[in-house]
Amino acid sequence: MARFPDGFLWGTATAAHQVEGNNWNNDWWAWEHTPGSPCTEPSGDACDHYHRYPDDVHLLRDLGFNAYRFSLEWSRIEPEDGEFSRVALDHYRRMCAACHDVGLEPIVTFHHFTTPRWVAARGGWIEPDTVDLFARYVERVTAHLGDVIGRACTFNEPNVVATFGYQWGIFPPGERDAGLRRRANDVFIAAHRRAVEIVQAGPGQTPVGLTLAMQDMQAVGGGEALRDAERRLMEDVYLEAARGDDYVGVQTYTRFRYGPNGMLPPPTGARTTQMGYEFWPEALEATIRRAWEVTRGVPILVTENGIGTADDAERIEYVERALHGVLDCLRDDIEVRGYVYWSLLDNFEWTFGYGPKFGLVAVDRETQTRAAKPSAHWLGAIARANALDDSEA
Ligand code: GCO
Repeated sequence: MARFPDGFLWGTATAAHQVEGNNWNNDWWAWEHTPGSPCTEPSGDACDHYHRYPDDVHLLRDLGFNAYRFSLEWSRIEPEDGEFSRVALDHYRRMCAACHDVGLEPIVTFHHFTTPRWVAARGGWIEPDTVDLFARYVERVTAHLGDVIGRACTFNEPNVVATFGYQWGIFPPGERDAGLRRRANDVFIAAHRRAVEIVQAGPGQTPVGLTLAMQDMQAVGGGEALRDAERRLMEDVYLEAARGDDYVGVQTYTRFRYGPNGMLPPPTGARTTQMGYEFWPEALEATIRRAWEVTRGVPILVTENGIGTADDAERIEYVERALHGVLDCLRDDIEVRGYVYWSLLDNFEWTFGYGPKFGLVAVDRETQTRAAKPSAHWLGAIARANALDDSEA
């Protein structure tokens, strides 16, 4: 058996908009209902996690995990400019308490893709004033929850919001402008730095960082210049901004290959996932190594890794191979603090709707009944043992 370090975090992740249901007051709900947007279906009731979180948290504990990563919905906490909801803040306080009660560390994300409608209307993430709005929200949240948050994450994949929302036009606000993407990068980085200071001021002594979408970005046949340029905007500006943070969250699903004229499709005959990604679990090891190198040694938390597949045996195969990569990093003295699988539940996969199945736990869309898949028991047992059988590795 290959053991993981004592105190290693084993968790699963969700995001408010993907599981809570009826988050009608944010830009994503509006986007789902915008004619012509690439959304396949609206989020609707999602997994009703807003009400069912106590059962979900218990299930997670019973399976063997010791951490739960979830996000706060800003549009519930501050439904209009400067109007804060005490009730919403209390809800998230109860969620953190429910985690502590059963021995799960709550890893809490302040912003996971969704932005209140009123913030979007004031210019969203290309408007420098949004830094102040976000800082005010983080201050209020920290005052209310700072003592119960186990680990804070300011932004989930701001690099994806900047790229998909401002350059590729597939996330709200649907812009297609490389210049706007760069502006959004700057606003996110400024907002992150402010939020880190606020969280570090307490209450609580909460480790704080951000999470990034990272793929194993490979150059083939002369694609280096293009790959490097894209990687600079997608990853490096954020990794450099994360130097000195308490941790950096690495989130990885696949590899992307770049030729001299652009991104290449998966190789002919390659296995692909429900997202159209190449099946490439080795990407995790590559991105952990890169994050460690570019941040100059900021501790790593794998805040997301997983696969959208209808074949649960394939999920096990994917995670097992990814975890061998984590072990190799640990052997090289890279500080990896934990592994958080995306996702606890089959849930709302943004523009893809409810098609892709990332969950360790299936959700009946009519009855909301949960059913743990074999992979949930398999990964939970690894978590409990804090070890992986490496006999055939
Ligand atoms: C992400 C996300 C999740 C996705 C997951 C699967 O940060 O991209 O945090 O919201 O559902 O990555 O695509």
